[in-house]
Amino acid sequence: MRNNKLQKSVYVRTFGCQMNVRDSEVICGLLTTNNYELTSKPDEANIIIFNTCSVRQHAEDKVWSEIGRFKKRFIPKKGIVPLIGVVGCMAQNYKENIFERASNVDFVVGPSDIDKIPGIINKLVAHSSQLIDKDLLGLKIWETDGNIRPEEIYHTRFYEDKDHAYVVISEGCSNLCSYCVVPYVRGSLKNRNYKDILKEVGEAVDNGITRITLLGQNVNAYQYENVNFVKLVEFVESVKGLKEFSFITSHPKDTSLDLFQAMADLEKLKKYLHLPVQSGSDRILKLMNRGYTRDNYLDLIRNYRKIVKKGVLTTDIIVGFPSETEKDFQDTYNLVRDTEFNAAFIFKYSPRPHTAAERLTDDVPREEKERRHKIVLDLQKKISQNKAVCSK
Ligand code: SAH
Ligand code: SF4
Ligand code: F3S
Repeated sequence: MRNNKLQKSVYVRTFGCQMNVRDSEVICGLLTTNNYELTSKPDEANIIIFNTCSVRQHAEDKVWSEIGRFKKRFIPKKGIVPLIGVVGCMAQNYKENIFERASNVDFVVGPSDIDKIPGIINKLVAHSSQLIDKDLLGLKIWETDGNIRPEEIYHTRFYEDKDHAYVVISEGCSNLCSYCVVPYVRGSLKNRNYKDILKEVGEAVDNGITRITLLGQNVNAYQYENVNFVKLVEFVESVKGLKEFSFITSHPKDTSLDLFQAMADLEKLKKYLHLPVQSGSDRILKLMNRGYTRDNYLDLIRNYRKIVKKGVLTTDIIVGFPSETEKDFQDTYNLVRDTEFNAAFIFKYSPRPHTAAERLTDDVPREEKERRHKIVLDLQKKISQNKAVCSK
C-alpha cells in the first residue's frame, strides 16, 4: 500500500529550452494548487515528472538514460514504486510508444495537454491507493491530442526565481525549418492575447519579480489583433515596477528595424539579441528553409550594430547538415569569424522524425561533424574571450 504523505510528493526534472523551464513552473503551479508538495529530492518523491526535449538526438538520449536510471534506483529499494510521467516534447513525439520503450513510465502528456496533469495524477494515485503496487503498473494514461492551452494555467504565480520570470507570448511555430521537430511537437504558432500577457507580467511584478524574459520560438512573428511584437514590447516597457526585460528567440526573416529602434529607445528593454543564423552558406540556408540569405543576415546585423549601440549579439549554428561541403562549412566559419558574436551555440546536425530534412541522406560522417563542430567552437571561444577582455 502507498504511504499517503508520499503520494503527494512530486519531483520535476526539466530538459531542453527556456520554454520547458517555464512549462515546468506552470506544471508545479498547477500541482501545488492541487495540494501536491514539491520536492527537490528524487529519493523522497512519489511522483517523478520528466519534462522532455526532442530537439536533437543527444537531448533525447539523455532523457532515456535518466528514465532508466530512476527505474533502477527506486524499485524496490525503499518499498515505494514512484509514478513516472514523461511530459513535453518527447511525449508528443513518441506518444504512447513511450510505454513500450520505458515500461516504468505511467503517464505521457504532450505540451498542449499539461493542464490535465493534476487530474491524471489524481486518477493514478486513487488507483494506487486501492491496489498493491505491482497492480498499479497496469494502468497507463496518455494525453497528446490537445491544441490550445487554457489561459488560466499561466496565472498560478509559481516562479523558480525570486526576481526573474519567463513569460510565454506565443506557443508553437509555423516556420518549418527543414531540420526542426518543434512545429511537430509544439504545433503551429499560437499567439496569446496581449492583454493576458500584460496581466501575467503584472502578476509577476506583484510577486516581487523585477526582470522578465518574453518567450516564443519566433517572437518577431507575434501578432494579436493590431498588436505586433514591437507594440507588445512598448506595452511591457510601461508596466510599473518592472525594471528590465528581454526576449528570445528572434528569427532573421521576421526581425525588423523597428524592433532595433525600440531596443535603442526603450529604457527597460535589454540590448540583447539572440539571432540564430544556422549556416553561412546560401545553399544550405535554402535547404534548411530558413527564408533568408547570408547577405540578408549580414545586413540585419549591420543595422543592429548601427542602431543599438553596444548591443549584445548571440547566435545558433548547425554543422554537418545533409550535403554540407567543406566550402559550405568555410562560409559558416568565415561568417562566425567576421561577425564576432558575443556567444554562439554550435550544434551537430541530427535527423529528427517528421521533418523534411529527415528524407535527405545524413551524409556528413560523425567524425566530420565533430571536426567542424570543434573548429567553430574553438574559433568562437577565442572571439568570446577577446570580447570579454575588451568590454572590461
Ligand atoms: N526557435 C528557435 C530555437 C529552436 S531549437 C530558433 O528558431 O532559433 C534551438 C536550436 O537547436 C536551433 O536554433 C538549432 O540551431 C538547433 N537545432 C534544431 N534542430 C536541430 C537538429 N535537427 N540538429 C541539430 N541542431 C538542431
Ligand atoms: Fe524550429 Fe525554425 Fe521554428 Fe525555430 S523557427 S522552432 S528552428 S522551425
Ligand atoms: Fe526542446 Fe521542445 Fe524546447 S524540443 S528545444 S524543449 S520546444
